[in-house]
Amino acid sequence: MNIILETQRLYLREFTDSDGFHFYQLNNNPEVIKHTGNKAFQSLNEATNFIKNYSDYNQNGFGRWAVCLKETNEFLGWCGLKKEKGEIDLGFRFYKKHWNKGFATEAAKACVNYGFLKLKRHKIRGRVYAENRASIQVLKKCNLKFEKQFMYDKKPAVLYTIKNDTN
Ligand SMILES: CC(C)(COP(=O)(O)OP(=O)(O)OC[C@H]1O[C@@H](n2cnc3c(N)ncnc32)[C@H](O)[C@@H]1OP(=O)(O)O)[C@@H](O)C(=O)NCCC(=O)NCCS
Repeated sequence: MNIILETQRLYLREFTDSDGFHFYQLNNNPEVIKHTGNKAFQSLNEATNFIKNYSDYNQNGFGRWAVCLKETNEFLGWCGLKKEKGEIDLGFRFYKKHWNKGFATEAAKACVNYGFLKLKRHKIRGRVYAENRASIQVLKKCNLKFEKQFMYDKKPAVLYTIKNDTN
């Protein structure tokens, strides 16, 4: 198990092939993917293949990570960074039964710190649909600031960013 980050209640580790099950289950809930632009996987096999082909760790040295509860090792969701056209994107997704317990904020704050302190990045961004209030709230609690509104897939979206001027 490759643990990347620890917080008070959580650890963030690299995905393993068996996380395909969780990817399948997460995206199988229409409420979870409602504001993401993603679709449900067609099968567990498709989700497992997605994980098997996940190349961000090898390509970039970082990526999205599995978020697990220290106390029980339970997989709660995922959170992490993604390199997109030279920019660093912050993203998160959790099982609905674990929403509103502060897990996304706790994990995302650690990812922002990791991006600045370990990866020496200068700027991290989050892009969400404007109607995704919970997600915007998480970005705000991580000190990202509103930068602009834009249209994504014909729907209003917002860009939030945070800069570290010491990098
Ligand atoms: C977005 C998501 C990751 C948040 O996870 P979480 O662990 O519940 O987040 P936290 O508990 O850290 O914080 C949630 C905040 O949103 C607030 N919130 C929740 N639902 C809300 C709503 N409908 N309107 C406004 N605020 C809302 C909570 O009150 C909390 O803020 P507070 O601590 O200031 O009260 C989770 O809802 C999720 O997985 N959603 C589906 C996937 C998704 O949309 N991902 C983001 C795509 S860009």
